[in-house]
Amino acid sequence: NLVNSKLAKFNGKRVLITAGGTREYIDPVRYISNKSSGKMGYALAKVAQKNGASVTLISANVTLPVPQGVKLVQVETVAELSKAVHSYFATTDVFIMAAAVSDYRPIHFVDHKIKKLAESSNLTIKLEETPDILKSLKQVRTNQIVVGFAAETNDLLDNAKKKLDSKGADIIVANDVSQADIGFGSEDNAITILQHDTENIKVSKANKRIIARKILEVIAKRFT
Ligand code: CTP
Ligand code: CA
Repeated sequence: NLVNSKLAKFNGKRVLITAGGTREYIDPVRYISNKSSGKMGYALAKVAQKNGASVTLISANVTLPVPQGVKLVQVETVAELSKAVHSYFATTDVFIMAAAVSDYRPIHFVDHKIKKLAESSNLTIKLEETPDILKSLKQVRTNQIVVGFAAETNDLLDNAKKKLDSKGADIIVANDVSQADIGFGSEDNAITILQHDTENIKVSKANKRIIARKILEVIAKRFT
């Protein structure tokens, strides 16, 4: 049931997907990261591949099995993710940015394991903003279909609409990450798909494979 006539247009299409969560190192053994499991991105990769797409999956710190026939590119940090996205973007038809990217990273990497400080003092780590990978594609975009995600705990649709307007994406998949049984790490998801000049499409709670199929159906409708 992964193969679906509504996804027939994916046959022969090149699809680039990012999945997982980035890690920003503080010292050789510690990092800042997030709760992304990679399940949504991997489900998208699997369903696209089953429907005849040529799929490249840029994977950040995911421990899931790699879907058969999918080309895997492994990265850890925002810098590595950005480099990989920019090296594959020009030769893709569809780009889906499902990875959860660290918004900040330590300004300085300490090259040895940081020792505990003297008693009762607090450690401060200064962070700098990371580049916005999705936004940076505006400059190099030709005719790719570009899909971003919006992870929100509150004001889901307002925040997602702002991202649709600012990120240069054709589609934003809004994702409520405030509930434990959907979103980050879970098997299920519930989403709203936003596009310019189109009614929002709400997809109620379902397995991430079903959600992936729905997202890909919306993308397929945009193929000319
Ligand atoms: N994204 C990105 N590069 C970043 C941060 C986010 O490419 N440095 C992408 C994400 O992969 C996602 C989209 O931008 O597709 C929205 O990410 P999200 O974290 O929801 O929004 P932000 O723009 O980072 O804003 P905020 O976290 O403040 O809501
Ligand atoms: Ca963010």
